[in-house]
Amino acid sequence: MSVNKEIKKVTTNTLQKMKAAGEKITMLTAYDFSFAKIIDGAGIDVILVGDSASNVMAGNETTLPITMDQMIYHATSVIRGIDRCLVVVDMPFGSYQSNSDIALASAIRIMKETGGHSVKMEGGAEVVDAIKRIVSAGIPVMGHLGLTPQSIYKFGTYTVRAKEKDEANKLRKDAKLLEEAGCFAIVLEKIPAELAKEVSESIAIPTIGIGAGGDCDGQVLVMHDMLGINTEFKPRFLRQYLNIHEQATGAVQQYIKDVKSKDFPGKNEQY
Ligand code: KIV
Repeated sequence: MSVNKEIKKVTTNTLQKMKAAGEKITMLTAYDFSFAKIIDGAGIDVILVGDSASNVMAGNETTLPITMDQMIYHATSVIRGIDRCLVVVDMPFGSYQSNSDIALASAIRIMKETGGHSVKMEGGAEVVDAIKRIVSAGIPVMGHLGLTPQSIYKFGTYTVRAKEKDEANKLRKDAKLLEEAGCFAIVLEKIPAELAKEVSESIAIPTIGIGAGGDCDGQVLVMHDMLGINTEFKPRFLRQYLNIHEQATGAVQQYIKDVKSKDFPGKNEQY
């Protein structure tokens, strides 16, 4: 019996046990009630209310514009749809970078107003003081290293990170710092698979990879990408499990045809 199937509610402890048992952790993003219900009902371990909502829900080019109020709206909707999985809420850009007082106040606001179970923050040494304060307040924190989209204007591109020695060394050190600061897991985004393997083996907390190879302790994908709602984004690491874009387009075209031809509504579809 897997650790996953034995439990009624997934907690940060469950993820720790899964890493110890060698059982892979599954995580997907969700931003609303209806998809959260589907994803949780299907048996996912973790839902991330990602600030990727800025891209896939609001149509922004980056994750930077999304606000605290908008993240709280998405997270509250997700929480209403779930029974079992652990919910992680992204702290939006600007809500934690300036100082640890602001970071703590932001994390408390997310926990109080959404009913979420934990928060996620991007960065290593730069945010470690803030992480320590938040963890001391009893709030579980997931870290995020590698390609951290809130720093896109510093990177200048969405290409693979930590290919060079200096950046790889910083990432190794940051992973240790986040573990010591009390993070319960770390997302590793778009880094070489070998480095992700090494980091995953060198820390006791689980790593969740996206474009970081198969040796991370778990995997995460953005729901809109893996379901093919959004078909323009096709990075190498993405496996697309459905083509909702195509199916939904077909359904809408059929509806238009049926209404125009007076086929819909039929006799059994009226009062
Ligand atoms: O916001 C998000 O969807 C994320 C994942 C890509 C990990 O941070």
